[in-house]
This record gives sequence, C-alpha cells and structure tokens, in this order.
Amino acid sequence: MPNQINDQTQPRSWPQGQPRRLAVLISGRGSNLQALYQSAQAYGLALDWLVVANQKESQGLRWAKDQGLETALLLHTDFASREGFDRQLAGLLQQFEPHLVVLAGFMRILTDVFFDNFQGPIINIHPSLLPAYPGLKTHARALQDGVAVHGATVHSVTPQIDHGPILAQSVVGVSHQDDDERLGARVLEMEHKLLPMVTWALLRDDLQLKDGRWSLRRPQSDLPQGLQFSPCLFHPQLVASPRSIR
Ligand code: GRF
Repeated sequence: MPNQINDQTQPRSWPQGQPRRLAVLISGRGSNLQALYQSAQAYGLALDWLVVANQKESQGLRWAKDQGLETALLLHTDFASREGFDRQLAGLLQQFEPHLVVLAGFMRILTDVFFDNFQGPIINIHPSLLPAYPGLKTHARALQDGVAVHGATVHSVTPQIDHGPILAQSVVGVSHQDDDERLGARVLEMEHKLLPMVTWALLRDDLQLKDGRWSLRRPQSDLPQGLQFSPCLFHPQLVASPRSIR
C-alpha cells in the first residue's frame, strides 16, 4: 500500500461540497480530538466544529479554543440531576444540528433523557475490543486476563453503555513486558488513526447500518485512497495515514 496519497483521490471536500458539522464531546486530555482535527487538516476537509466539555480543567477544551474552534463548557456539577445535564446537552447539540456527534473520551453516562431529546448519529471510541471489557480500566483488565490481543473499538452509541453496533476495531498484540500504561499508549496510538478514518467514512456517507450491522455502501475499491475502510477490522499499517501526507 503506497504511503503517498494521490492528489486526485484525496478527499478535499464532501460529496455535496458543503462543510459538515461535527460535534466532539470530551472530558479531559482530548488527544483523540486533536487527532481528528489534524487528520481533517491533513485531508483539507471542510468542517464546522463544536467541542463540548463537561470538565473545566479539560486540556482538550483549552486546546480547541487555541485552535479557534467553537467550544462549550457544560459542567455536570452545575446540574442537580443527571437528567438535567442530559437535557441541556441534548438541546445544545440539537441547536448545532451536527451531521455527527463523536464521543472522544467523554466520561459521562448518557441517560434516556438525552436520547429522547437528541436524535442524530453518535459514535464513541472505546479502548478495548468490544464486547470485551466495556467500562473502565480496560488495559489493566486485559492484562490481568492474560489476553494475547487487545485494541480499540468505534461503535454507535445507544442507551446501553459500550454496546452499540461496532463500526471498526483496531488490534494490538500484547507483549510480556506490557504494563497497562505501555499497552494503553499503543492502543491510543491506534485510536488516533481509527477514529478519524471512521468519522470521515460516516460523514462521506460511505457506511450503512442494516439490521444492527455496519457495512460499506460501495466497494472498498471505490473509496478515496486515503479513506480505505474495513468495517470489521482495521489495520492502520495497511492504510496511508493522514500524517504521511503532510
Ligand atoms: C481514550 O482512550 C478513549 O478511547 C476513551 O477515553 C480516552 C480519551 O483520551 N474513551 P483522550 O481524551 O482522547 O486523550
């Protein structure tokens, strides 16, 4: 697979030519948000961003402001109930009318109130090969179980946490020398490639959800070269990384 992306096939804009509105929800560091942004820059994709954080000290929020992106801080501690926060968040998103909402390290469980008040596609990135290890401390639990492979999953968000239809997964091998930090760092590196790939594929309308399963709408060979996508398993080493085209 070539490392260079041919200018002819590089996805400089969306099929209908209009910018896509992308809402990214974060809580802390925001490295996945940065990976998304850098990938969009590398591909020259036209996007309107809204970054929402629920924690004041979110590094990702500060970073987003520095880039000049539209941001919102919605502190869950300002709300008496989970439902109150969810209603406000749903209203904020509804106003922005995003084509897609990405949960990228958003450490909040969304209640039914959120799903009743916001209708739109939402995806989440989770640091394990779901359905293994939903929830927290995924790397430590994987090591504890002595698994040979671990990884990350991007899935649709449904009211059942970490259980929506899987879009794509990225696999890393586990080594004897791994501790959860080392393993987590390798998984995170994969996340930074996986999440943009899936996000752009969705925004390009390349994927469809049928009977609870995601699949490609058109043959893989018809996709722009930089956006090759396998809905089952994603091998970042087989596709040109946005970083390689800078
Ligand atoms: C990532 O590992 C993601 O999979 C999980 O939370 C972490 C967020 O990291 N949901 P960052 O804020 O994107 O750096």
